[in-house]
Amino acid sequence: MSAIVKMVNIVKRFPGVLANDQINLQIETGEIHALLGENGAGKTTLMNILYGLHSADAGQIYLKGREVKINSPRKAIDQGIGMVHQHFMLIPALTVAENIVLGTRVEREPFLDLPGAAKKIRALSQQYGLDLDPVAKVWHLSVGQQQRVEIVKALYRGADILILDEPTAVLTPQETDELFAVLRRLKDEGHTVIFISHKLNEVMQISDRVTVLRQGRVIKTLNTPETDKTELARLMVGREISFVVDKTPAQTRQAVLEVKGLSARDNRQLEAIKSISLTLKAGEILGLAGVDGNGQSELIESITGLRKASSGQVFLQGKPITNQPPRFLFEMGLGFIPEDRNRQGLVRDMPITENLVLQRFYRPPFARFGFLNYRAIREYAAELIKKYDIRTPSPMVPARNLSGGNQQKVVLAREMDRQPSLLIAMHPTRGLDVGAAEYVHKRIVEERDRGCAILLVSTELEEILALSDRIAVLYEGQIMGLLDRNQASIEDLGLMMAGSKRLETGS
Ligand SMILES: Nc1ncnc2c1ncn2[C@@H]1O[C@H](COP(=O)(O)OP(=O)(O)O)[C@@H](O)[C@H]1O
Ligand SMILES: [Mg+2]
Repeated sequence: MSAIVKMVNIVKRFPGVLANDQINLQIETGEIHALLGENGAGKTTLMNILYGLHSADAGQIYLKGREVKINSPRKAIDQGIGMVHQHFMLIPALTVAENIVLGTRVEREPFLDLPGAAKKIRALSQQYGLDLDPVAKVWHLSVGQQQRVEIVKALYRGADILILDEPTAVLTPQETDELFAVLRRLKDEGHTVIFISHKLNEVMQISDRVTVLRQGRVIKTLNTPETDKTELARLMVGREISFVVDKTPAQTRQAVLEVKGLSARDNRQLEAIKSISLTLKAGEILGLAGVDGNGQSELIESITGLRKASSGQVFLQGKPITNQPPRFLFEMGLGFIPEDRNRQGLVRDMPITENLVLQRFYRPPFARFGFLNYRAIREYAAELIKKYDIRTPSPMVPARNLSGGNQQKVVLAREMDRQPSLLIAMHPTRGLDVGAAEYVHKRIVEERDRGCAILLVSTELEEILALSDRIAVLYEGQIMGLLDRNQASIEDLGLMMAGSKRLETGS
């Protein structure tokens, strides 16, 4: 093996942050090398430097032993480096081929040869098992397919080093498997892959070697087969992380949420959930498993009053709440960790302080005689920031300036501190690093033990299995089965998630 990329003593400062602190990284030819680290560790910055998007304040880059100055992506592409960003850079109105060819024209080719390009794209996608139609418009494509366009774009431009920045963050478990198959094909054909991730399972599954970054520094580079999740987590977070969620058997009490024959339509007026029935008791966690897009959003929206149910009924603490406005439910003790914390969970431009009292600011002690009591709000916010360990330079910074993990803690603090009787948690750890995810899991179990009824929606089977007392599987808007956690095998759950198995049970 020989080093294809060598980054030596790379330093990069942003105002107030040392994003890369004397980083040394060596990538061998033909390997899949994972860059692992929590949010903010400096992974993207380092790769943006290699791709010529940022210039380093100090340090050198060597490609195949020769020192190079890469001061633009154009230069990087010329050197055989391609990068697929977290946010794709495609033009939706154009076709796959047009997107790929765009910007690759050279002087010798004064006009676009689209048919020729389409042929080349077909050949490339076949070679690597990417299955892409060059004449499809990009806006018709799923997120997974758009990612493939980005990969083919890099290959089309002759990349033999491919950098992927958190590529699985937007994929379903199946799409992730497909992507990994593509990465293995690339490796077999002699390409070098740099895979950025904060997910330990994926790093263990796909990489040959892994470099762990923490707070802008390289902690260690390891051979993947010689390490394990526990060691990687410790290196990444700087302390022990346990993957087992500590919990005793559920002590269930009275029914808190009852859903009876609930149906609702999606935004295109198609039936999205079909006659769903379930009962959730105080003191238990019911996990709702399923591949994204099988009616999870519509079910939760119609329970919480955000979407009109077309038939069926919902009861909270025995009272009918079908099609009541969300505020009514909050008043009755609903805690809600929404799917999209950026859009629904937080007001991005508002300070953390105000975000922490979002549904309660109009009531005492935060408001009296129509005036807001800022002192009470500030004191309460300070208390929550401390209790929930929200890392922020000040309580007055806008929510948008916090890291994903800390934004989620703001939502969690607000929703849990009200001691809800029902907590609906949708993808509560999506996009979070292990440290933050561990904390969220611990808090959810604590809420359960306090006597809260918890409805957990997650596409991560591991999370469902770790937390749930009972598991329901949603497929195409229907419940395929409801099982006790101890009776649920991964195989059965997988079959139900794919719609090929159904258990006839009561609710
Ligand atoms: N363009 C930028 N301007 C200012 N700060 C930045 C910029 N890009 C990244 N940072 C900061 O640098 C640090 C490393 O960020 P990043 O490389 O994106 O981490 P990662 O990809 O590991 O999550 C973070 O503290 C981040 O806030
Ligand atoms: Mg990043």
